Amino acid sequence: MHSGKDISKHITTKVLLERKKKKEKITMLTAYDYLTAKFLDEAGIEMILVGDSLGNVIQGNETTLPVTLEQIIYHTNMVKKAVKNALVVGDMPFMSYQIGTEEAIRNAGRLMKETGCDAVKMEGGKYLVETIRRIVEIGIPVMGHLGLTPQSINKFGSYKTRGVERAEAEAIKRDALLLEKAGCFAIVLEKVPAALGKAVSKSLKIPTIGIGAGPDCDGQVLVTQDMLGMIEDFKPRFVRRYMNLAKDMKEAFKRYSKDIKENKFPSEKESY
Ligand code: KIV
Repeated sequence: MHSGKDISKHITTKVLLERKKKKEKITMLTAYDYLTAKFLDEAGIEMILVGDSLGNVIQGNETTLPVTLEQIIYHTNMVKKAVKNALVVGDMPFMSYQIGTEEAIRNAGRLMKETGCDAVKMEGGKYLVETIRRIVEIGIPVMGHLGLTPQSINKFGSYKTRGVERAEAEAIKRDALLLEKAGCFAIVLEKVPAALGKAVSKSLKIPTIGIGAGPDCDGQVLVTQDMLGMIEDFKPRFVRRYMNLAKDMKEAFKRYSKDIKENKFPSEKESY
């Protein structure tokens, strides 16, 4: 059955490769609900990530570690319903792909089958090569994620920039090439020096999508709540705020409250 999508505008992994070849930048943001996804899609954002960052911005957890596959499936379903053109990536949560290839295939398959997402994302390098190769082979596009990988926060001990030391920078470069060879269609590069972001992007045929990885990545991603200024106490250098929505929302809530207290809402016009 036809989905009602305008095929000519639909973003596929092939379109993303073309963007890189033509040196056209790629846009990506996160969404976890229907309306946000609808607005992103209508604004022409090309990729929408149902990130495990929902553990932070939706659930209020310190880390992304508690997020479950069921929760990602739940949110990806809402997002997918709203999207006509963007490529929707479902994030594989902590411990849904690390145990072994078979379990990773089963979970990536569930995520795609139960939500209709276009691709899945996984954090990590060399140790994931065989898993990614098999998942891609069975027809599930995989996006890699290198640099600061928040699911490894307990190993790193902090959210500081990765790949500053030469040895780690070299490892990230090697991992990026391995992920490309394994079949990833794109790689998120998170919080690495701009020079490393540039070097990795130049070394790959597939696009890099940077978050705090400098201007030379092939595309950029941010957590939507961060760029809307909804998270007041989190402002890393790589976040550009396009709105101050936290302030605007609180202002609206206060005005609503005042109107009720002063018997100004609802008015006659707003009544039956
Ligand atoms: O979970 C997420 O939102 C992410 C992005 C920060 C890339 O992985």
